[in-house]
Amino acid sequence: MVAFDNAFRRQLRELFVWRRDVRRFRNDALPDGAVERLIETACLSPSVGLSQPWRFVIVDDPARRRAVIDDFKACNADALNCYSGERAARYATLKLSGLEQAPSHLAVFADKASDTGHGLGRATMPETTEYSVVAAITAMWLAARAEGIGLGWVSILNPDRIHGVLDVPASWKFIAYLCIGYPEAECDQPELERAKWEHRRSPEEFTLRR
Ligand SMILES: Cc1cc2nc3c(=O)[nH]c(=O)nc-3n(C[C@H](O)[C@H](O)[C@H](O)COP(=O)(O)O)c2cc1C
Repeated sequence: MVAFDNAFRRQLRELFVWRRDVRRFRNDALPDGAVERLIETACLSPSVGLSQPWRFVIVDDPARRRAVIDDFKACNADALNCYSGERAARYATLKLSGLEQAPSHLAVFADKASDTGHGLGRATMPETTEYSVVAAITAMWLAARAEGIGLGWVSILNPDRIHGVLDVPASWKFIAYLCIGYPEAECDQPELERAKWEHRRSPEEFTLRR
């Protein structure tokens, strides 16, 4: 039996407040085993039917990393073209990945073909496979922050191209590309809020009672 006290709860809340999507990394490497340890923690996450559909690819190969960076640049240029006027000008100033600086790259997939969990919960909602992987990424994000490690989620990528670059099984669905390393700075406010792209809204705006 483990009990958590008020001091722990206060600290846990601070962890949530100080977790950030990190795009600006120091270039020193993480200690050996750090990414593997984060993966181990992520694997403690809930998953539909205990299906554990998360699949992790540690991307060390410089040529594959370069291909991912090139894909990000192409996708980001396309994304910029979707905006106009002042919004486009603002988008162009945003830093939306730390791919070039981050010492560690980690791709995360959901295995849609795995029989682990015997399909429990997935017949009615097959998308719970992907939800389970996202839950694992969130756990990893917080665990990283607790160690002073920053994590940045990059989604401005073409899933088919990433699939090809990383040469993974066809049944794996691309969920996330993560940049991991020590952050240049800590902050309790999202970078997109500081850049005046969007602001955080109050929980009441998202909550209904029925
Ligand atoms: C599914 C997902 C995809 C994201 N993709 C990107 C991305 O491509 N580039 C980026 O800069 N941030 C990305 N983010 C980070 C969000 O912009 C960030 O979480 C949000 O602005 C709030 O900031 P915070 O995480 O620091 O609280 C992504 C976050 C999520 C959850």
